[in-house]
Amino acid sequence: MSQVLVAYFSASGVTKKVAEKIAKAAEAEIYEIQPKVIYTTEDLDWKNKESRSSIEMADHGSRPEIVDIDAPVSDAEVVFLGFPIWWYIAPTIVNTFLEKYDFSGKKIVLFATSGGSGFGETVENLKKSVSVNTEIVEGKLLNGDPSQEEIAAWVKTVVTV
Ligand SMILES: Cc1cc2nc3c(=O)[nH]c(=O)nc-3n(C[C@H](O)[C@H](O)[C@H](O)COP(=O)(O)O)c2cc1C
Repeated sequence: MSQVLVAYFSASGVTKKVAEKIAKAAEAEIYEIQPKVIYTTEDLDWKNKESRSSIEMADHGSRPEIVDIDAPVSDAEVVFLGFPIWWYIAPTIVNTFLEKYDFSGKKIVLFATSGGSGFGETVENLKKSVSVNTEIVEGKLLNGDPSQEEIAAWVKTVVTV
């Protein structure tokens, strides 16, 4: 069995819930990507062009700081990486995470939750933050609070548990 890590960012708890189910199904370690400054409800207001999330996502080069604790990345061969879709892609804090660690030679399988949008150009966008020998695959959009069984069935298609 490959060494598996589940890493996720979740601003309001939806992605966290599916991340926990993936970790359970894969019997994997779980790591939360935590922002140095927590996102408030006002920060997450996508209708306000001046909100923190709107400003960050308008600049794909923004790199919101993360709490620097040691993510157990080096031991992992496969990393499930989850986040909410923000403005049709991954929040730029996910780029911060990818740039902070060395993912060379690893496979990153994305999962996300959203209000309905798909991954769009998420993969292309995240590839800019890893080396050429890191594989990033789209994985699955896990909307609608999927059951543990549904998640386990998907995880089995990615890694042997
Ligand atoms: C700033 C912001 C931008 C968003 N942009 C999108 C979007 O482009 N498409 C979409 O379907 N949902 C969008 N959403 C909704 C979130 O993707 C959705 O609520 C997600 O499940 C939240 O996950 P979380 O609780 O783990 O943060 C957006 C939410 C926020 C806060």
